Amino acid sequence: METGKLGTHPLTEERGLLFGGDYNPEQWPEEVWRQDAELMRAAGVNLVTVGVFSWARLEPEPGRHDFGWLDRVLDLMGEHGIAVDLAIPTASPPPWLGHRWPETLPVDEDGHRLWYGSRNQFCPSSARYRERSQLITTALAERYAAHPALAIWHVGNEYGEVCHCDESAAAFRAWLRERYGDLATLNESWGTTFWSQGYGDWAEVVPPRRAPYLINPTQRLDWRRFCSGELLGHFREQRDVLRAHTPDVPVTTNFMGFFNRVDYWSFAGEQDVVSNDCYPEPGNPRTPALTALTHDLMRGLGGGRPWVLMEQATSAVNWRPHNLPKPPGQFRLESLQAVARGADGLCYFQWRASRFGSERFHAAMVPHAGPDTRLHAAVREHGRELRRLASVAGTPVPARVAMVFDWESWWALEERGRPSDRLNATEQMLAYYVPFFERGVSVDVVPPSADLSAYALVVAPNLFLVGDRDAAALTAYAHGGGVLVVGPFSGVVDPNGHVRTGRFPVPLREVLGASGEEWLPVAAEQPVRCRWDDGAGFAASTWTELLRAEGAETVAEFAEGDLEGRPAVVRHRAGNGVAWYVGTMPEPAALGTLIGRALDDAGVTGPLPELPPDVEAVRRGEVLFLLNHGADTVRVPVPEPATDLLTGSPARGHVTLTPRAVAALRPEVSGG
Ligand code: GAL
Repeated sequence: METGKLGTHPLTEERGLLFGGDYNPEQWPEEVWRQDAELMRAAGVNLVTVGVFSWARLEPEPGRHDFGWLDRVLDLMGEHGIAVDLAIPTASPPPWLGHRWPETLPVDEDGHRLWYGSRNQFCPSSARYRERSQLITTALAERYAAHPALAIWHVGNEYGEVCHCDESAAAFRAWLRERYGDLATLNESWGTTFWSQGYGDWAEVVPPRRAPYLINPTQRLDWRRFCSGELLGHFREQRDVLRAHTPDVPVTTNFMGFFNRVDYWSFAGEQDVVSNDCYPEPGNPRTPALTALTHDLMRGLGGGRPWVLMEQATSAVNWRPHNLPKPPGQFRLESLQAVARGADGLCYFQWRASRFGSERFHAAMVPHAGPDTRLHAAVREHGRELRRLASVAGTPVPARVAMVFDWESWWALEERGRPSDRLNATEQMLAYYVPFFERGVSVDVVPPSADLSAYALVVAPNLFLVGDRDAAALTAYAHGGGVLVVGPFSGVVDPNGHVRTGRFPVPLREVLGASGEEWLPVAAEQPVRCRWDDGAGFAASTWTELLRAEGAETVAEFAEGDLEGRPAVVRHRAGNGVAWYVGTMPEPAALGTLIGRALDDAGVTGPLPELPPDVEAVRRGEVLFLLNHGADTVRVPVPEPATDLLTGSPARGHVTLTPRAVAALRPEVSGG
C-alpha cells in the first residue's frame, strides 16, 4: 500500500468514507448472517471487522482449523459489496493454549497467574504464545490472501498486556543487556547506589514485582519501555507474515487514545493505517475537547494521514459503573467530529448486540430489539449521509500549532514519590488544548522529536523527561522564529529519569530566559492569586514554582503568599522567536488568555471571527465543519458563501445549529 502520499488510501479511493463495525457472526446462527448482510447493505456499511475473538472457533484444537464458516462469512460480505477488515485473533487465545501451556498465561506483579475465561490472557514474551500466534496468522494469511473481500488486516486488539513471569524476566534481562551492555552501566543508569540496590549478577535483575515500598523509578521506566516493545515485537511478527503474503493489503491494530501502557509513537510507523477505539464519556462537559484532542493525536500518529475510527458506540457502553445512553443525534455528532479531524473510517463496536457474554448490555448498530428501532434507523441515516461527505476522504487537516506529547515523559512523570500527583501529563495536555479548541484553531499532536519547522506555535504542556537532543530542537525552533510555550515541571529529568541538577529547567533555561529553584505545590483548596502585567487578576492552583527572570519579561506574577511579586508566567524574545514558560497551573480562563497572547505572537487565528461557546470549528481540506456540542440552538456567522454538504443547502451569512447539529460547509467558488 502506498502510504507516503497524504490522503491516499486504496480503500477510500474506491469507497469514500468507510462505515461499519465489528461483526461477530460466530455468535449467531447462519440464517441471521444473510439478514445481517442485507441490513448492512441497506445501511451503507462498506467495512466490517471480522474474527477479532474467533481463535477458538478457527482452531478448536492445536493445529486443527475450521475455516469453513469464515469462508462463508467472507463470501457473503463480498457478495454484498462489503469489504472485510480481517482480524488476527491473537488478543484472546483459546482455553487450550493456557490449559496445555500455562506459561502462556500472564502473571501479575504479585505473582498470580491470570486465567482464561475472559480475554487478553497471554504473556507477550511467551515463546509458545508467540509461536501459536505465528501459526494462526500464517494459516489465515494463506487461506484469505486472495479473497476478494479482504481489504485490511487487523492484528490483535487493543494491545496493552503486561506479564511479570520468569520468562518475561529473562526477556527483560536480554533487553537490558542490549540497552546497557554491562551491569556496571545498568547500575549507574538505574542509580542503584540508592537503597542498596546494586546488582552483581544479571540473574538478580527482575521486573518490578510487588515490593515493600517504592520501586526504583528507572527500573520501572525501563520496564515500561520493555513491555511496550514486547507488544510491538509481537505485532511486528504477525505483520511481517501478513506483508509477506499480501504486500498490498494494509495492516493495522486498534489503539486506545491516550493509553498509558503502549508508546504509540513507536507503534505508529510500523502499521499502514492508524486506527483507534474511542468511547467518549457521555455527560462530561470536557468530553468534546478531550475527544477532539484524541482524534488529533491519531492524526499525529499517522503523520497527518487519514486514520480509522475502528470502534465507537452508538449509545451506552457496558463497562462504566453507570452507563449513560447517548441522546438521539449524539453518535452522529461524535462520528462527524472524527471525520472533521481526519478520520476516513467510522466504525462501531459492534454490528449486532450480543445475546450472551460479558458485553450483552453494550449498544450496537442493530440493538436487541432489532432493526425496527429508532437507533437502527439513525444508523442507516448516518450511513447514507456519510456518502455525501465522500469528497472529504483523503483530505488533510491543516494545522499551524503543534502540541508535544511523549509517552516516556508521561511514564517518568507518573512515578510515585514526586512533588505532587495532581500534576498529570494528560490533564495538562487537555488544559492547554481547550483554548485552541474553543477558538477553532487546529492542533497537531507530535512527538518531541518531530520536525517543528512548519509550525508557528509549539506547546509542550509538560515535558518532565526530555533528552538533550529534543531540548536542543525546541530551543532551535524558538531561536529560528517559532513561538514556544512550555508548561510547569518540564525539563526536570534526563532519559534515565535522573534529575538534571542546576537551576531548572536545565536544558531549556537559556531559551526560556528564566530559571527556577523550588517546586512548590499548594493545597488544593487554596488557589493562589496571580496578576497579569496589565493588573488583571486570576487564580492558579495546585502547583507553583520559585522562578527568576533572566532576560525574559514577567507577564504574570504571584500576587500573594511566599511568592508574592515573583514570576508565574514569563515570555522571552529568544533569537528570532518567542518562548513562554508557565510555572503554575492557571485557571482555565487565564490559560485561555495566555494561549491567546501566544497565538498573537505566532500570528495564528481561528477559521471564523466569532465562534459561539460549545461550537467546534475545524477545517478539513476545503470543508469547514461546525459542530454544536451545546444544549442551545446557536447562530454561527460564516463570512463566505458556502454549501452544506450534509443537507445541500446554501449557507449565506450564518448557519443555525440546533443542539448536536453539524454543518459541513464547502465554500462556493464566486459565481459558481
Ligand atoms: C473495546 C474492545 C471491544 C469491546 C469494546 C466495548 O475496548 O476492543 O472488543 O470490548 O471495547 O466497548
